Amino acid sequence: MKHTIIRCGLMGLTLIMLLSCGANKAYTVTSPGEKNKLVFNLTKSGQPQYAFLFNGKPVVEPSLLGFEFAGSNPMTEGFKVVGVKENTVDQTWEQPWGEFRKVRDNHKEFVVSLKETKGEQRIVDLIFRIFDDGLGFKYSFPTQPNLANVKISNEVTQFTFPHDNDVWWIPVHSENSYYESFYRKTPMSKTDTINTPATFETPDKLYVAIHEANLTDFASMTLSLAGKNTYKSELVPWADGVKVYAEAPFETPWRTIVVGHEPGDLVTSTIMLNLNEPSKIKDVSWIEPSKYIGIWWGMHLEKYTWGQGNKHGATTKNTKDYIDFAAQQNLDGVLVEGWNVGWDGDWTADGTAFSFVKAYPDFDLEEIARYAASKNVRLIGHHETAGAAKHYESQMDEAFSLYNKLGVNTVKTGYVNKYLDKKEWHDGQYGVRHYRKVVETAAKYKIMIDNHEPVKGTGLQRTYPNLMTQEGGRGQEYNAWSADGGNTPEHTATLPFTRMLSGPMDYTPGNFDFDYKTPQGARVLSTLANQLALYVVLFSPLQMASDLPENYIGKPEFKFVKEVPSIWSETKVLDSKIGEYTTIARKDWDGKKWYLGSITNSTSRQLDVPLSFLDAGITYTAEMYCDGPGADYKTNPYPVLISKRTVNSSTVLKLDLASGGGAAIKFTPANN
Ligand code: NOJ
Repeated sequence: MKHTIIRCGLMGLTLIMLLSCGANKAYTVTSPGEKNKLVFNLTKSGQPQYAFLFNGKPVVEPSLLGFEFAGSNPMTEGFKVVGVKENTVDQTWEQPWGEFRKVRDNHKEFVVSLKETKGEQRIVDLIFRIFDDGLGFKYSFPTQPNLANVKISNEVTQFTFPHDNDVWWIPVHSENSYYESFYRKTPMSKTDTINTPATFETPDKLYVAIHEANLTDFASMTLSLAGKNTYKSELVPWADGVKVYAEAPFETPWRTIVVGHEPGDLVTSTIMLNLNEPSKIKDVSWIEPSKYIGIWWGMHLEKYTWGQGNKHGATTKNTKDYIDFAAQQNLDGVLVEGWNVGWDGDWTADGTAFSFVKAYPDFDLEEIARYAASKNVRLIGHHETAGAAKHYESQMDEAFSLYNKLGVNTVKTGYVNKYLDKKEWHDGQYGVRHYRKVVETAAKYKIMIDNHEPVKGTGLQRTYPNLMTQEGGRGQEYNAWSADGGNTPEHTATLPFTRMLSGPMDYTPGNFDFDYKTPQGARVLSTLANQLALYVVLFSPLQMASDLPENYIGKPEFKFVKEVPSIWSETKVLDSKIGEYTTIARKDWDGKKWYLGSITNSTSRQLDVPLSFLDAGITYTAEMYCDGPGADYKTNPYPVLISKRTVNSSTVLKLDLASGGGAAIKFTPANN
């Protein structure tokens, strides 16, 4: 058999075999730095397939592409190439907030236009963007008579690896509808259907993340095992089984493959952001990062209730006390949950009792808004829907307009229910449409969104920078009531390389009291220094100080919570092992001070941390909050050693991290 090696000279042997005689011409496009290669060809039967090589190593072997429809023929084979285009982009754009102030978008684009040779002669463009740290591709279906109205029944897109890689994954829907699971690490062959981002470690120690970007009017992509070392896209269906309702012209979201030599390369990749569209919000001056407290943890600890009664948390008096605390401590906002009618009884069962404009009688909304403004504190609004999305939509304009009138510029939304409107998944096309409507409507009223029980993030904050943060993972609340005891230190050491690849997370760190009691016996399973480090490790432009205000009073460690920024001009991930330990350094928005967060799992460890990320030639004062003598997340989470020392970019710090511990450091230029 004769091998097709034209334009594939550097490819691995397997690839050459698969593109052997009979297959059509292979197109090879390299990334701007020439490191990576996309290879595209049509199989013998005219089915599109792609492969991706990173630094000469096959990461994705030839993998099929295509779509199937209910009631019409599949678009999987019988194609010919009717056109190709290539283009190089190198531009830098600025974010209103983020983990980087400036983002470079440097890629080569390859567009291949395909047409069916027989039958309906339908057409589709495959658009590939090849970056130095990965690949994005999407399908674009132009206007055409035979795709006027389609019901997508299956996306064929495959991701075939050379090996049975290890993967960090969470299941789809079986445990939870909004990604609140522990990540597990297993060989791919031991998984079934998994959510993205899915993070892989290859036998030759490459780190790979598969995810998607710009999930717009489509169903979420999950990955189902479809053969040896192969996943395929499994779109989340509507209740009627259809995956996506579409009408040409339409495009799919981008499918993304990020690759690096270190776990941190996945964290600092900006492919997802680059594959979203520029901001649709022209004036972003009202969009601002913030630090907030809330009448919130008290409900989870069962100190307060959301509904009415003698433990009602959202009373005028209590809210004013929280506002006073925020004002004294220079915090920006106060979240108040349980302020509105609809919480009495089992509020999770049916959200149609919720009013988003009517307050409980013991909560004087207008007076509280006035009081907050007088103290220069923002009230943060709350809309829990219990999954009743249509009901919420019917009040949305009125509700945002009311908040806008009262000076509330941030709203936390919630969807606690297995389904939306009793039957649709949060991450199907139905949910995707709903969440988009919320973000767009909120933007009209200059309101920022913190979305709990969301559809996973896909970088939409570039287009809608008022979509500040989301939950979409096991956050601090699990440490109040989870029957399994709470989030393990392994969980938080895994999040930066899994959940966080989909964007900011409202984890709500900042627990200072570890001696609370709840019926389920859950606890915050970390040291206090670890809680401080999470403000640097887990990015969110809105960061909560989640504990009860009284637990912060008189605590010197609270200084770090108040000072640490929530947006960053630069981010560097230092030595890290997924699920074991990580150290992240970030520079403040003005590019002056650096901050560092380091966390470990339940193994205590000593880390040598070179401070080479600091600006050369500048001497810094490092204010360090480290696990103190005897600290241990199980037996003694409290000791924090606060110290100061002078450092520069050639200093190597030795950090002693306790079991479940951490370190949080602020570096201020000494002449500041
Ligand atoms: C679940 C959210 O994640 C949590 O933060 C909130 O307190 C409850 N829903 C009530 O809305």
